[in-house]
Amino acid sequence: MIHQFIKGTTETTLVLLHGTGGTEQDLIPLARELSTEVNILTLRGDVLENGMSRFFRRHAEGVLDLEDLKKQTERFLTFLDEAAAKYGVARDKMIPLGYSNGANLIGSALYRDNAFKASLLFHPMVPDRSLTLPYLTGATVFISAGERDPICPKQETEELTSTLREAGADVELFYHGGGHELRMEEVEAARAWVVPLID
Ligand code: MLT
Repeated sequence: MIHQFIKGTTETTLVLLHGTGGTEQDLIPLARELSTEVNILTLRGDVLENGMSRFFRRHAEGVLDLEDLKKQTERFLTFLDEAAAKYGVARDKMIPLGYSNGANLIGSALYRDNAFKASLLFHPMVPDRSLTLPYLTGATVFISAGERDPICPKQETEELTSTLREAGADVELFYHGGGHELRMEEVEAARAWVVPLID
């Protein structure tokens, strides 16, 4: 997968996944707001939709291609194992951080595999309603969303949150008053949540 690794001074690595039309550079400033010391592994989706980079295909806005999502989720998890070995970082200290399309890939990984102890999902959707979550006790998830987000409606954020909680995950949910855009207030909430988890 197209990516960049930036070595920091911690054992923790933030794994960054951008939204539709983004690049691997987009979320680096946000990650640096969370920690100036953490390792960063940042990915660029190589599924192109009218020239826009994504991490998996979709049939229309909000209508995910579940077969491709499954394939790309497996590919993502394999890539992380390989990257951990290549860059000499601990796979179990990787904290993925995704926005929108990137958050949906991370959400999908949580459904298929108890893949991460901690994850940050900015404006995620329910990835695949046909799947049942594994037992997620010990996993912690930060979710942020916009109260009036037309792409990820509040009802869907609530559904994802309660589904994760029912599976045993500890979920912190933060809303801002706007739509699908990332706002500084959710970055600040994410920082307060993630800093104690970085080592
Ligand atoms: C997706 O396709 O993952 C969602 O519609 C979010 C997005 O617009 O990227």
